[in-house]
Amino acid sequence: MNNEDILLMMPGPVPVVPRILRAMSKPMINHRGAEFSEMYDDCREILADIFKTDNDIFVISGSGSAAMEAAVGCTIKSDDKVVTIENGKFGERFKLLAGIYGDVVPLEFEWGDSIDLDVVEEKLAEGAKAVTLVHNETSAGILNPAEEIGKLARKYDALFIMDGVTSIGGDDVRVDEWGVDIAVVGSQKCIGAPPGLSMISVSERAFDAMEDMKKMPYYLDLKAYRKSAGKEKTQTPYTPAIPLFYALQESLHIVMEEGLDARINRHRTGAEAVREAVNAMGIEMLPNLDSYSRYSNTVSAMKAPEGVSGDDIKKDMLKRGIVIAGGQARLSGKIFRIGSMGNITSRDLLVTIQELETVLHKRGVVSNIGPGIEAASNVLDALL
Ligand SMILES: Cc1ncc(COP(=O)(O)O)c(C=O)c1O
Repeated sequence: MNNEDILLMMPGPVPVVPRILRAMSKPMINHRGAEFSEMYDDCREILADIFKTDNDIFVISGSGSAAMEAAVGCTIKSDDKVVTIENGKFGERFKLLAGIYGDVVPLEFEWGDSIDLDVVEEKLAEGAKAVTLVHNETSAGILNPAEEIGKLARKYDALFIMDGVTSIGGDDVRVDEWGVDIAVVGSQKCIGAPPGLSMISVSERAFDAMEDMKKMPYYLDLKAYRKSAGKEKTQTPYTPAIPLFYALQESLHIVMEEGLDARINRHRTGAEAVREAVNAMGIEMLPNLDSYSRYSNTVSAMKAPEGVSGDDIKKDMLKRGIVIAGGQARLSGKIFRIGSMGNITSRDLLVTIQELETVLHKRGVVSNIGPGIEAASNVLDALL
């Protein structure tokens, strides 16, 4: 099947709408000139609205992991304790990254389980320079309680470093209200742009913490990003991926034209439609929720039904032109995931559910085709 006919329903990269693709084909410009400076300023202003912050915001030419590494690499030195909260693959990534720079205090929960806030408090009370959290744990489809972690971080005077890679731009994220010192997002997720850029907000507290660093990363030095952004012509320290900046600017304009609240509502409704549909098909969600955690509003993780691997469902869907995701690492084969982020439409979701129901019917998991699509359609009607 031609890639132009494939529907990406995975948790990033997401489909890029033609308007954004076209924006990328503009001629290259001087990255130290006025035109780039205006584009960067425009992006940073819109990003501040999306992050809900007055903190400095920078755009890094590198995917979400680059921004995660900048966050820990610029604030944590070898004898600094970092509490790393893990309930999925990306929490694990933060632990591994932080371990390169500092002294990790790992807090590991089963992937897909809720975070025990009492345990987090216990660890922070022992003293830590920082705490890392993945707000929306993509690998397990669970939304973690960022606001509560922010309160604990303040109480014990730890920096709060948050991965908002698959929540910012699609869900309600309040960087300043929650006291997030460093927040990161990737371009290829809820914002709807191609992969390759990451955006990072940095508080004054985080910049203060950089003052006693003996060494800073070179390419990912956030002080260098701040210095370049503060020049008369706003710029990045090194040559930026200009075509991706064009795409980012266009995608941010699309976010603002839709309206952030409307966009968040569309994401929430989309994920709810997936959940209602799979529930009608007798499929269970992976996350074990408590009173603080929620199902993700941007990616839904479902347990593979009895006798069928999540990878088989993924393969069957691909034959029908739809790319969904399986489970990562220890969840491989055990789950399947449907992304509903970025500029995904109700029509995309309905086609996906219809094909999923057909696939499950052919595999003998559901006895008739219809209940799933009806459930999804009922939820999505709210967006009409
Ligand atoms: C929650 C989360 N954090 C970090 C990453 C890593 O981002 P990237 O692949 O852009 O480096 C991802 C990618 O899927 C993610 O979902």
